[in-house]
Amino acid sequence: MAPQGRLLIRGGRVVNDDFSQVADVLVEDGVVRALGRDLLPLGDAAPGLRILDAAGKLVLPGGIDTHTHMQFPFMGSQSVDDFYQGTKAALAGGTTMIIDFAIPQKGSSLVEAFETWRSWADPKVCCDYSLHVAVTWWSDQVKEEMKTLAQDKGVNSFKMFMAYKGVYMVQGAQVHAGAKKMLALGITGPEGHELCRPEAVEAEATLRAITIASAVNCPLYVVHVMSKSAAKVVADAKREGKVVYGEPIAAGLGTDGTHYWSKEWRHAAHHVMGPPLRPDPSTPGFLMNLLANGDLSTTGSDNCTFNTCQKALGKDDFTKIPNGVNGVEDRMSVIWEKGVHSGKMDENRFVAVTSTNAAKIFNLYPKKGRIAVGSDADIVIWDPEATRRISAKTHHQAVNFNIFEGMVCHGVPLVTISRGRVVYEAGVFNVAAGDGKYVPRKPFAESVYKRIKQRDQTCTPTPVQRAPYKGEVFTLKSRE
Ligand code: URP
Ligand code: ZN
Ligand code: ZN
Ligand code: ZN
Repeated sequence: MAPQGRLLIRGGRVVNDDFSQVADVLVEDGVVRALGRDLLPLGDAAPGLRILDAAGKLVLPGGIDTHTHMQFPFMGSQSVDDFYQGTKAALAGGTTMIIDFAIPQKGSSLVEAFETWRSWADPKVCCDYSLHVAVTWWSDQVKEEMKTLAQDKGVNSFKMFMAYKGVYMVQGAQVHAGAKKMLALGITGPEGHELCRPEAVEAEATLRAITIASAVNCPLYVVHVMSKSAAKVVADAKREGKVVYGEPIAAGLGTDGTHYWSKEWRHAAHHVMGPPLRPDPSTPGFLMNLLANGDLSTTGSDNCTFNTCQKALGKDDFTKIPNGVNGVEDRMSVIWEKGVHSGKMDENRFVAVTSTNAAKIFNLYPKKGRIAVGSDADIVIWDPEATRRISAKTHHQAVNFNIFEGMVCHGVPLVTISRGRVVYEAGVFNVAAGDGKYVPRKPFAESVYKRIKQRDQTCTPTPVQRAPYKGEVFTLKSRE
């Protein structure tokens, strides 16, 4: 195989979020060195230059999956796609970066959780990654640690749970009474999981988060927007001018919650995730419409996979089914099929919602999320016309089920390039554990914080200047 130092991607249609152009892309030392027509005079015979023919194909910024949980210890189990297999599968699907979650137990150090996740991920990752950190409890120590993480560790996003009371949630309660009621009704199967977490609960939690964040002028990123009701709440807030971003996930865009009523327990259980998929079958199309028109901003997968034997921890009680579904491998193809092939969004919006917007919001742009001179060469050569049938039999993930089983998607990644190296090509990997890198993220991403900073200056209330009142003041009677 030719050395991987230099690559020329020739004649493809280079798609960024704002513009497409037919151009060659020259890659050297992991970054894009040149972009333009007919770069080949640089030398057909140039030593060590590998030429990839992309004529008739699209050349896209690699996908950024904003939401994964690889090898996550959760609900008494651990998700089976680890940082090796999960990130390999990501590459096969055209995703070149994931953002996972370091989640401390209540009372535990956030920095320690961050270091623990780093020690799991660093030796295993096949693509670049970053970490959000969860705030599962509150104290002065937590406050200080958030500062340390932001200043020294490259963390600029913190997750607050609105569910998992007593485990990850800082305060509050919603779901427990509902679960008790379902079990009392004899509903022990996966349908109970949805029935005790109706859309209205998700919408209420979303509105509460938006209200609190906007009251303190803090930007808010709403993970896994699963329902029409929650999506409408995000859209309304955005239209009111709030700095809020909504993230639907591959599962919610590609399938729905009718599966919880499947007669086959295994099938139903493999769809259990929190918040649940919604049984209203118009939900995926609705979420895609909002993603296309800008009301929703990014896409993740919430990839958190459990094998059937793990799901079976809840075979007699849906509350014990480990929550989580797949999506890291199939996110790009599912969105191409349901979003672009359907005619809802164009190729540029596809790039925005699968890569660029995430890079902008999480301060990775334009190193990630763009094909431009100086950007990391995280690139996918994409065939928009080819199709593939998704199946657990052929996917690259560890999990023994695929929620998109049988779905035929237009939009197939032919070649995936990570930091300038061809890591996946025609079904063959050329990548090793640890080839990916941790990507630190500086705080205060411009595209998010320009408005926030301006509001801090101009929207802080000021007192009305008035002459002091000089008149009579009523005397309060002291209480006996
Ligand atoms: O079901 C899910 N989503 N599992 C992972 C944990 C979370 O809340 O994202
Ligand atoms: Zn089904
Ligand atoms: Zn969550
Ligand atoms: Zn999650």
